Amino acid sequence: MIEQLIRTPFTDLTGVRHPVVQTGMGWVSGPRLVSGTANAGGLGILASATMTFAELEQAIVEVKGRTDQPFGVNLRADAGDAKDRCRLLIDHGVKVASFALAPKPDLIALLKEHGIVVMPSIGAAKHAVKVASWGADAVMVQGGEGGGHTGPVPTTLLLPTVLDALHGAGSDIPVIAAGGFFDGRGLAAALSYGAAGVGMGTRFLLTRDSAVPDAVKQLYLERGLTDTVVTAKVDGMPHRMLRTDLVAELEETGTLKRLGPTVRRTLELKRDTGMSWLALARDGREMRKAQGRTLGQMALAANTPMMLKAGLVDGDTTAGVLASGQVVGVIDDLPTCEELVDRVVTRAADELRRAASYAV
Ligand SMILES: Cc1cc2nc3c(=O)[nH]c(=O)nc-3n(C[C@H](O)[C@H](O)[C@H](O)COP(=O)(O)O)c2cc1C
Repeated sequence: MIEQLIRTPFTDLTGVRHPVVQTGMGWVSGPRLVSGTANAGGLGILASATMTFAELEQAIVEVKGRTDQPFGVNLRADAGDAKDRCRLLIDHGVKVASFALAPKPDLIALLKEHGIVVMPSIGAAKHAVKVASWGADAVMVQGGEGGGHTGPVPTTLLLPTVLDALHGAGSDIPVIAAGGFFDGRGLAAALSYGAAGVGMGTRFLLTRDSAVPDAVKQLYLERGLTDTVVTAKVDGMPHRMLRTDLVAELEETGTLKRLGPTVRRTLELKRDTGMSWLALARDGREMRKAQGRTLGQMALAANTPMMLKAGLVDGDTTAGVLASGQVVGVIDDLPTCEELVDRVVTRAADELRRAASYAV
């Protein structure tokens, strides 16, 4: 691990050495990737939405066995057992709680009471202001070029908008910029905008430490800048993924035709996660309340975790989808987490010095 070259409010807040976050990616951000990032001096975040409660606890214990550095856990704020999962983080002394959707103020308060840094992901300036007013310690902003569920506004416009909105509301919480980052130039640019670090998903998926099968990583490496697509046909929400034959087929097929496979996958999800029907129904009801989705969309939503699993874990692209950022088009190697973090931070420090030399 290289020495600290860039110190920001985010490194001070979380105790990590470098302002680089490996984001929580379902089926991808497991103990090896998270501890690899932590040992490289970045903030690794475990993805827990695709884990049962017991699997999450096991994963946290495994990370703690592999590193003594701080790390985080990504939670679904609308999950039926969100509070229990927060208590698990408290019991295990996890440093950062990241959220895919805004957590309620009582959940934020509970975590903060125990010294856990709360960092929701947001896709719009008003949401950043809202969670800051509820006590969030930091926010992660994901621009439209990012992988997974994503919005229409690119990072270059969303990031300054969020920073301005927060400052306008009197908040100076650290902002992590995500969506489209892969090297030190991006980190230097994000810091110049006023962010306190960057989050990278696709770039960390494509490291030697990620558990995604090698054949699937090769599929990603072959893709160009225009080879991803945003589709709402998988679960009713805009989702950026690699353009594959299956995705093209989904785009063309109507909702009704897809309900058959959806029911099958809901059954698989129930079996794989050990969730009771009651828990599934409760999760569905919460999602529906939080995101205003229709019942048909809710049924389709059950598809997503299993379709991502088929692609990212089983390597079956005929039945599975592969979430990916546009950045996949400029990635052509598989470094270790340590190699990646070292080169991103070293180059960013060089670029910041070079740019600063232009000021007269
Ligand atoms: C394969 C994959 C799975 C993802 N799963 C999640 C998830 O479970 N929860 C979440 O909050 N974000 C998820 N995301 C979004 C990432 O955490 C991150 O915000 C995004 O990848 C950043 O954009 P980038 O890919 O351009 O770096 C996922 C992204 C990818 C590529």
